[in-house]
Amino acid sequence: MPRPLAVLIGPMGVGKTRLGKRVAKRLGVPFTDTDKVVVAAHGPITDIFAEHGEDWFRGVESETVLAALEGDGIVSLGGGAVLHPATRAALAGHTVVFLTSPAEAVLARIDLGKRPLLRDDPGAWERIFREREPVYRALASHTVDTSGRPMEHVVDTIVALV
Ligand code: S3P
Repeated sequence: MPRPLAVLIGPMGVGKTRLGKRVAKRLGVPFTDTDKVVVAAHGPITDIFAEHGEDWFRGVESETVLAALEGDGIVSLGGGAVLHPATRAALAGHTVVFLTSPAEAVLARIDLGKRPLLRDDPGAWERIFREREPVYRALASHTVDTSGRPMEHVVDTIVALV
């Protein structure tokens, strides 16, 4: 059965998608971003939250993650995917890379115009991160800080782990 070379977890804006794509390209393997799979099937995540609520989204997200874990290559998960117990259970035994970064580095880099939640309340990122950090750490087989180094160096670090 195929299995991903690595699964990238971590908070919103830390670079899971950007780095995941580069790592997959470097290794010549497929890249799957579970957020993109959910959006392709159900439309924009903000609309899903508005129409069906967060719990419904988390259920669909978890089914999507479980399917992605049956595939290969590099898989990146949405920042909150680890909130679902089935997702946490399914990650056991996988190479799980927790991408982390100080709040200032994330907030300086992301486009706040595209993240209305954070634009109105920049402190939200750090609050959510503090809540979820223990979960990320418990699931991670490796932790990589994505800040303060050229992206290709961070890619090198992740490639060396898989
Ligand atoms: C979320 C993070 C997003 C996306 C959704 C919820 C979260 O993914 O799944 O908006 O709860 O942290 P990214 O981490 O890829 O931005």
